[in-house]
Amino acid sequence: MGARGGNVGPVTQSSRPRGLFIALEGGDGTGKSTQRALLGEWLEARGLEAVLTREPGGTELGLLLREALLHGGDVDPRTEALLFATDRSHHVASLVRPAIERGAVVVTDRYLDSSVAYQGSARSLGRDEVRELSLWGTYGLLPDLTVVLDLDPVVAAERRAGEAPDRLERESLRFHSDVREAFLELAGAEPARYLVVDADQEPGAVHGLITERVAQLLEGGNAGADA
Ligand code: TYD
Repeated sequence: MGARGGNVGPVTQSSRPRGLFIALEGGDGTGKSTQRALLGEWLEARGLEAVLTREPGGTELGLLLREALLHGGDVDPRTEALLFATDRSHHVASLVRPAIERGAVVVTDRYLDSSVAYQGSARSLGRDEVRELSLWGTYGLLPDLTVVLDLDPVVAAERRAGEAPDRLERESLRFHSDVREAFLELAGAEPARYLVVDADQEPGAVHGLITERVAQLLEGGNAGADA
């Protein structure tokens, strides 16, 4: 992964992570949690330890932050960005990094790019600032692979019909279109570290495309996951 000068994080050259870190990204209702579960089964069937987690809310503290973020009152956009970054920082320090270091494959339902797309882009806080905030909070941890499940926000909203929307899901179609565009731009800028999958197809077909790429990563050996 690209070197980030001046890092004083817990991961050093002599203790490079041996596992793999995979993030599933995309708008609400694109099928991330279904794909996370399918990928977990696929990894375990290959004898690998799969750690399935999510943001916000992958830890005990994270669950408190998740409740406040998704079901609490409105907060200033910067407060919102800081709370997501706090959740991420604790998640990485207490769960993600230890798992990668013991050789597990960590699959997270959302990571840093969600903040870049939702807070940086759709909330107009600035993609670079929001990315730097999360990189600071995680000592620069980037996924080995980010899978973007791409779906028209209108179709995604239809899929969610009947579910009570959370605070972010209640945002406008324009907001969700901005989120989609941001994910696609992030993926387009770094194709080696991203896989964009058309999420408007059967879950089994989406799963097949994801595992094809993950298999390549596993065969190639892990490059490590610190930025
Ligand atoms: P998610 O857990 O995917 O929602 P659900 O379980 O209802 O499918 O995500 C919760 C919401 O939080 C989602 O609308 C996206 C938003 N979010 C951000 O705005 N920024 C972030 O950094 C993260 C991780 C999520």
